[in-house]
This record gives sequence, C-alpha cells and structure tokens, in this order.
Amino acid sequence: MIARTHILGLGTALPEHVVTNDDLSGLMDTSDEWIAQRTGIRERRHIQTDTGATDLGAAAARAALADAGTDIDAIDAIIFATLSPDIDWPASAVLLARKLGARPMPAFDVRDQCSGFLYSLAVADALIRAGRARQVLVVGGEVHSTGLDLTTRGREVGVIFGDGAAAAVIGPTPDAQRGLLSVHLHAEGAFAERLWIEVVASRRKPRIRLEDLAGDDPAIYPHMNGRYVFKHAVTRFPEVIRESLAFNGLSTDDIDVLVPHQANLRISQFVAAELGLDEAKVVNNIDRYGNTTAASIPLALAEAVRDGRVTRGRTVCLAAFGAGFTWGAAVLRW
Ligand code: UT7
Repeated sequence: MIARTHILGLGTALPEHVVTNDDLSGLMDTSDEWIAQRTGIRERRHIQTDTGATDLGAAAARAALADAGTDIDAIDAIIFATLSPDIDWPASAVLLARKLGARPMPAFDVRDQCSGFLYSLAVADALIRAGRARQVLVVGGEVHSTGLDLTTRGREVGVIFGDGAAAAVIGPTPDAQRGLLSVHLHAEGAFAERLWIEVVASRRKPRIRLEDLAGDDPAIYPHMNGRYVFKHAVTRFPEVIRESLAFNGLSTDDIDVLVPHQANLRISQFVAAELGLDEAKVVNNIDRYGNTTAASIPLALAEAVRDGRVTRGRTVCLAAFGAGFTWGAAVLRW
C-alpha cells in the first residue's frame, strides 16, 4: 500500500562553460553591478558546442538514478519539463528515453516553463498513486543560450537565463510520515504575452517569415515585461505557498526550507520577507546559474540536499512562478 510518493534521488548536470556578468558586458551595454544588484546573478552556464536539453537531461537523469540506487529498468514513465525542446517535435522526452536506453514506456514533455518541474511532480505523483507506474523519472532541462538575443536589444532577458538540467526519481514511500504532502498548480493565460516567445508559430500563415529574423525587435527571441512579471511573481509566490500550507494544516513557521524557483534574488528575498521567513531558510543559487526555468527548482533542491540543509524529517516547500503565467507550490516532508 502506497502511503505517499517521495523524491528518491536527485541529479544535476551543467555545461562546464561559465559566462560571467563581465563576459556579457563585452557583448552588450550592461554591467556586473546592474545584473548583480537587480537579479543577484553573477554567472551562468552556456553550452559551447551542439548540446540539447536532453543531453544535459540525460546526464542529470543518470545521476538521479544512481542517487536513488535504482536504474532505468525500474522506471515506468519519463516526464521532461522544458521550454527549450531539442527539436520542434516529437517530444524531447522520447529523445531522452532513447539516450537513457529506456524500454518502451510513456515519455512526454511538460511545457509549463518555470513551473514545469512542479507540474511534472504532480503528474508523477498521480501516475504512481493510480497504480500506473511504480517509479517515474522527472527531468527539467534547458538550453537557453542558443535562443537569446545577447546584444543590448535583448539585455533584459539575455542576462537572466542560463543552461542546465536536474532530475528526480519519484517513487513510493511506505512511511506515512514522509514524502510529498501536496502540489497546488495554477495557470492564467491572460498574461501569456507578458513573457513569451512567439515564433515559430504554427497559427501564422506562412509559419516562418523573413521579418521574424530582422527588424528592431525580432520575434524569434523571448520577450518579457520584466516589471509586470516581477509584480505578479511577488504576489503569487506567497499566495500559493500559503494555500499549500493551509491545505496541510501548516503555517509559515513550519517551513524548514523554502526552495523557490530561481527567477531573481530580489523576488526570493521579497517572498521571504512577506512570509516572515528567515532568509537562512531560503535556498538561493541564482548567483551561479541564473534562471534555468524548468531545471531551477530541482537544481536548487539537489544542492540543498547535498549540503545538508534538507535532511530527513524537515518540511520543505517548493514554489514556482513563470511564463503563462503559471505558478504552484509543493510541500514535502523529507
Ligand atoms: O522565470 C520567469 C519569471 N521571470 C521573472 O520573474 C523576471 C521578473 N523580472 C525581473 O526580474 C526584473 O524585472 C528584471 C531583472 C528583468 C529587470 O529589472 P528591473 O529592476 O525591473 O529593471 P527595468 O526593467 O525596470 O529596467 C530598468 C532600466 C531600464 O532602463 P531605463 O528605461 O530606466 O533607462 C532598462 O533598459 O534598466 C535597463 N536594463 C538594463 N541595464 C543594464 C534592462 N536590462 C538591463 C541590463 N543591463 N541587462
């Protein structure tokens, strides 16, 4: 009898090449001071040669399987969260499954940007509880750097995103005291244009136009209304964290560790202050990796487990907000 599901193992994979804020200052009109003050980011990783999100994802997945003491043969489904799929279609999850040598099994992508890991976690939990899978591999992987406008024109977005992947093995735990207590998910498409990448768009005829690549504001790059996103983020994060705590009969005092999606250090600090949380309880690694969207929560969680901040019995809250808008929170007893 499954009491709950739990994260049985975590793994990460990052490109070796480090891009500092000073490196970006050589490409565009920006500065280490501006980026560090406004975002908390000091460096991020960029791939240097052809590398797909599933290449990083496969390395992270192998590490997670090893960490869980299991292997791909024990996995019954693969979920890949990404906004930067290797190719348009088929799903990157099938390419990932192939790289991992998986037998035929369900493999699909989740396209919910910064909330993708939480959406995937909820689906993995549901599959296992419904008896459709025993262990599920959830991977968040991104290669942003090949799709950024790294000139002054694209600086607002170009400086924040980084490449990386992280994976989690989700499986049953018979211990009713441990595991995933809840996941709450939300989406509000009214704000899709506030943070999006419009092209390539199948709804347009013709699908690809020459002007997409040219002009003052090429449609092929991500577009973001930073201030607007920021304002929504600092409202939705505390709201959904409180919602998930209340669902479990918990209060903010019960949070031992908060792992927020790494969008902006100022957002995380604002959320901590709003919730009255000691900043020491909040995991931040945006200084080293920037915003890795779907990979960011498992990447930060894996670090917090590795450095001993997340230990058995601790109450851990994961929370995300991003493009869509989508947002959510999960509560786990480690
Ligand atoms: O993970 C998905 C969710 N994403 C987010 O949560 C991102 C939320 N938004 C943010 O984190 C912030 O809005 C940013 C970090 C993106 C921007 O910070 P901001 O404090 O909101 O700056 P701003 O957009 O209001 O821009 C202030 C100034 C502008 O110049 P003017 O108009 O005041 O002359 C920008 O052109 O800073 C300028 N600017 C830059 N300057 C140097 C924008 N980007 C840069 C840059 N370097 N990279």
